[in-house]
Formats: sequence, structure tokens, C-alpha cells
Amino acid sequence: MAVHMATGIAVPAREHDSDHQAPLQAPVETPSGCHAETVTEVEHYTDRLFRFRISRPASFRFRSGEFVMIGLPGTRPVFRAYSIASPSWDDTLEFYSIKVPAGPLTEYLQRVQPGDTIWMRRKATGTLVLDALLPGRNLWMFGTGTGIAPFASVIRDPESYEKFESLVLAHGCRLTAELAYGQQVVTATYSDPLVGDLATNRLKLIDATTRQPHARTGRLTTLLETGSLESIAGAPLDPATDRVMICGSMAMLRDMRDALESGGFTEGSNARPGTLVIEKAFVD
Ligand code: A2P
Repeated sequence: MAVHMATGIAVPAREHDSDHQAPLQAPVETPSGCHAETVTEVEHYTDRLFRFRISRPASFRFRSGEFVMIGLPGTRPVFRAYSIASPSWDDTLEFYSIKVPAGPLTEYLQRVQPGDTIWMRRKATGTLVLDALLPGRNLWMFGTGTGIAPFASVIRDPESYEKFESLVLAHGCRLTAELAYGQQVVTATYSDPLVGDLATNRLKLIDATTRQPHARTGRLTTLLETGSLESIAGAPLDPATDRVMICGSMAMLRDMRDALESGGFTEGSNARPGTLVIEKAFVD
């Protein structure tokens, strides 16, 4: 078993290829502790990235930014931790996923179609939540790749605008096409009937690529170090006033955490709020 960073929750380790079994969409009994939900929408962005929406059980509650375990019906289902990319008030649930060739779950999940069934464990959890941060003036969110998913939820939550004067969402990807999801979500947020007025002028997206030309290029860590992010945001990143959420690969979390901790930020949790919270992005 691997342990989900920052939460200590055990998640199934990657299986050997010989253990792979195609999940069946034929009727299979729903495991106890799981909801069986229906896929309502699927959109593919690149050969590595897609999003899907599922129906939401009436009893399911979560805080914006949390993750839940997702699996496909099959004889030996594999569950993985997925950040919920839709806000807590929405009546469907959105997820943003990578597609990993021979990945224990995504090899099959990338083929889902509207009408298919997805299993979802009943309890959502996670540290990328407003409750794990001390009060502050500006909320900065740093996400690489699918690490933007929890922030797609947080930026559409009215509570984020009640607690913070401004929100900066920094998204770093390898290629320009991989920035599309973040751009789409932020555009939708500006015209959202619930949070659109709050987000206009107070939410800023700063996106960057590392392997293709774009308006901004370079890793988020580099853009932070050189002061580019602060100058685009129009304000310095200061632990006295600012709070930070980070989601990405293990290497990105390590480097970003080191940079922020040396700048005076301290990691918080649900039990002990701080100025910085961290969670690993979904990987396989
Ligand atoms: P790079 O292209 O230089 O590896 P991935 O899809 O592998 O998760 O990468 C998403 C983005 O995160 C890429 O732009 C990648 O840059 C960047 N990245 C990878 N490792 C780090 C790191 N240690 N610190 C900051 N950004 C990173």
C-alpha cells in the first residue's frame, strides 16, 4: 500500500501488469461503502488528459478541494484518489485525469462514456481546503499538470472569496494544449451565476509551459524564484498576509515546499492550520 501524502490514507499500490484485468461494465455488485454513479459527460483535451462528470449521490458531502477514491466496476477493482474538480455546491461531480498507458485505473477509465457506471467511496477528505489555512488576505494556488483539479473546485466556491481578497491560480504544464482545462475553468468561473461577480477582478490565472513556446515559459518554481509570478500577480508573496496551496508531482511539491518554507511559510493541516498546504496530484 502507498500512503496518500499529507492525509496518511492508504491507497492501493500500483499492480504488476500481469495482475491487470479489464474492468467489466456488465452488472457487478457495488462494494459496500461505495456509491455507484453514472457518467454524464466526458471531454478529452490531449492524448494525456481528459475530464469526466458523474452524477452526485444526494447524501454525498465534501469541502471544495477534497479528494475521493474512484474505481471502475470489475472483478478486481482498483481505486485511486481523485481530487473533485467541481465546487461543493454543484449537483454533479467533475474529475480531471491523466491517461497513463497501462495505468492500473486510467488505462480503462479513459474509455468511459456517458451512461457508464463509476464507483466512488463514500467519504471525501484532503488538506487542500480553506479550513487548513490560517486567515489571510491573498490565496495562491500552485498546480502542475492535473494538480490544478482541486483548485478548479476552490476557485468556484463563494467561501474562497469571503475568506480572501484575491486568488492567484498558477498552472504549469509541459505543453500549451495542457493549459486548456485551467483556461476553460477560469473562463467559466468569471461567468458563473454564483461566483462570477466575486471572481471578476479578484481571481487571476497565471499559466506557463516548459516544453513549448507560450506567453510565459518556465517551471513555476523558477517563475517564483525570479519574481515573475509576483510581478504578474502585482503583489509580493508574503507569509504575513498570503496563504498557499500546492498540488503536483512529488518533485514539484518538494521543490516548491522548500522555496516557500525558506520564505517563511509553514505547512498546515485540518487539525493545525498553517500558511501552506500540500497534496500530491493523481499519478496513474
Ligand atoms: P518540465 O517540463 O521541466 O519537467 P508533469 O506533467 O511531469 O507532472 O509536469 C507538469 C509540469 O511540472 C511541467 O511543466 C514540468 O516541467 C513541471 N515540473 C516537473 N518537475 C518539477 C519540479 N520539481 N518543480 C517545478 N515544476 C516541475
